[in-house]
Amino acid sequence: MKCVVTGGAGFIGSHVVDALTARGDSVLILDDFSTGSEGNIAGAKSSGANLDVVRCDLCSKDAFDALVNFKPDAVFHLAAQINVRKSVEDPVFDADKNVCGTVNMLEAARVADCPRFVFSSTGGAIYGEQDVFPAPEDHPVHAESPYGISKRAAELYLEYYGRVFGRSTTSLRFSNVYGPRQNPKGEAGVVAIFSERLIAGEALTVFGDGMQTRDFVFVGDVVNAVLSAADSADKPGFRVFNVGTGVETSVMDVVAGMRTAWKAMDKADDGIVVEHAPERQGEQRRSVIDHSKLTSELGWRPKVNLESGLEKTLRSYFSDS
Ligand SMILES: NC(=O)c1ccc[n+]([C@@H]2O[C@H](COP(=O)([O-])OP(=O)(O)OC[C@H]3O[C@@H](n4cnc5c(N)ncnc54)[C@H](O)[C@@H]3O)[C@@H](O)[C@H]2O)c1
Repeated sequence: MKCVVTGGAGFIGSHVVDALTARGDSVLILDDFSTGSEGNIAGAKSSGANLDVVRCDLCSKDAFDALVNFKPDAVFHLAAQINVRKSVEDPVFDADKNVCGTVNMLEAARVADCPRFVFSSTGGAIYGEQDVFPAPEDHPVHAESPYGISKRAAELYLEYYGRVFGRSTTSLRFSNVYGPRQNPKGEAGVVAIFSERLIAGEALTVFGDGMQTRDFVFVGDVVNAVLSAADSADKPGFRVFNVGTGVETSVMDVVAGMRTAWKAMDKADDGIVVEHAPERQGEQRRSVIDHSKLTSELGWRPKVNLESGLEKTLRSYFSDS
């Protein structure tokens, strides 16, 4: 297939690029490198894969034209403004990138007659404080940030393009994704933050009691979901799937998992110091999503449990992966 990956130089996008190029697909990356990096795609570039990169803003005419001229069989739209705090401080910027940018890519895909469009949405930020645990796809929207709203608004455009223009459009609502290459500057990247601090010999800062929960899903499992969403897109219309583990994991569980992984790597665990800081205002207490729809319709299941995912992540800091 010919595939466009927006945000292909980012954390999740670069793993999608690796998987597509490894199976022989031709890939065009559209990325402005605002949070992505050349290092993330160095392996794919040097592998001799059929890969091109256009440095551009996803809202621009350059991005639109590059997508149309490439005539892809599938678009994987991962580029986004991902910072929840920034979305609160500057909701116009957030909506510009996440809503207008997505519409720009949907329009380009329509003009290019591209049959498949896969979008990276969010479970946690759309469901907000949940009524039920784990949250299914039809859980009410309780978005508590402009980021959650902009992701949900983009989904409505996908629904429209799927229904009106006869395309297959799929929204994947990720839970908290972690793994190699995650940028520790990202707010949700607690695993990346802890990993960097651990390797630097610094204390791990836990806000509040550390009993707030998230659904941590390993990036390799997310890539499998992304690829199977495109491969199964044989009918026009809109679909939405949660991509998470359904396992509620506290921040203190992550700390414990890191101790185990650190020991498995023959590192002394007495270097791990945890310090508690005051609870952050407005932080969501519990978040976990139900992936049973993705399992029953596409046969997807998470394969990597937290301990082995944490070990893979920590080991990546000592290798080139
Ligand atoms: N990481 C998670 O836990 C998580 C959870 C839910 C949803 N998501 C979604 O998954 C997608 C990928 O997230 P990630 O964690 O890999 O983040 P990331 O920041 O590593 O990747 C985003 C990529 O998009 C690029 N980008 C950002 N703004 C752009 C713009 N205006 N024009 C062109 N390129 C731009 C960045 O340079 C980067 O390469 C995002 O859409 C995000 O909202 C991530």
